[in-house]
Amino acid sequence: MSRVDKFNPLKSGAVERKRDELRGGSCGKLMMEEPRYASIRTDAINYGLVSDVIYPMSAGKEASIFLAKWKEHSIILKVYRLWQTPHSISQQKGYVRKASKKRTRFILGLIEDITVQEFDTLQACFRAGVAVPTPIGRVANYLTMRFIGDGEEPAPQLREVNLENPDSVLNTILDEYLKMYRDAHYVHGDLSGYNILWWQERPWIIDVPQGETVGVHSDMNRVELILRRDIGNVLSYFETYGIERDAEQILNVFLDAYIPENRKHYRELRPDGLELG
Ligand SMILES: Nc1ncnc2c1ncn2[C@@H]1O[C@H](COP(=O)(O)OP(=O)(O)O)[C@@H](O)[C@H]1O
Ligand SMILES: [Mg+2]
Repeated sequence: MSRVDKFNPLKSGAVERKRDELRGGSCGKLMMEEPRYASIRTDAINYGLVSDVIYPMSAGKEASIFLAKWKEHSIILKVYRLWQTPHSISQQKGYVRKASKKRTRFILGLIEDITVQEFDTLQACFRAGVAVPTPIGRVANYLTMRFIGDGEEPAPQLREVNLENPDSVLNTILDEYLKMYRDAHYVHGDLSGYNILWWQERPWIIDVPQGETVGVHSDMNRVELILRRDIGNVLSYFETYGIERDAEQILNVFLDAYIPENRKHYRELRPDGLELG
């Protein structure tokens, strides 16, 4: 994971100033305040990521999405929220005792890690030719990417459209995911009708911060569970069109296409009762 703030050579100091402000100067207490639109806009402009922020498009559990501009071009600004999830995140990554300057820095670091994770996954997928929004820049917990849509109108989510050729769309989605897995070596972790956009007559995969890279250090049992869940989610969406496919067979196509060399025999040592935590 690269923690170097990307594509932002001229703005040094802005991120550090922001971090100090969030830490509450020297007192070291977390400021439990939801970042507001105006301050997000100012930050994104100061970080050199956007020339303007137009409107908030969506506010999910962990991140807010804004339509923004880079000069006259529409782009997407995704801002990972600082204060709504720190507890659950710190639980996931290891318990941290009490509010302290250290803890604040730790939480800021975790949120930045997730942003880095999404940026790196998008970049790897984009380079492998997967239809994902092209990543543009990242500074701290702010990330910009290509806007999928026309003008200022975002593309609909797959679950909102009525497909004319659901069978071939399903094939395209599985092909895209196979590319992501086999060529970029990532699993998505949250693939569903919500995180696939329908634009220019094709599916676009988005929302990849849960993406995990699959390599020589991977737990293949876990990778298999994530693949099975993602494939299952996609198939269950297509069941509404009366399409039935064999999830295990598709899973095996994925696993036949790629398993890291040193993990080929992972099934032989498999404990019983595997589940995703
Ligand atoms: N690159 C993009 N282009 C157009 N719309 C987007 C883009 N990224 C996200 N959106 C819109 O914002 C919604 C939420 O984004 P997403 O990345 O899925 O975040 P989350 O689900 O974590 O809130 C998407 O379902 C989509 O409607
Ligand atoms: Mg989403």
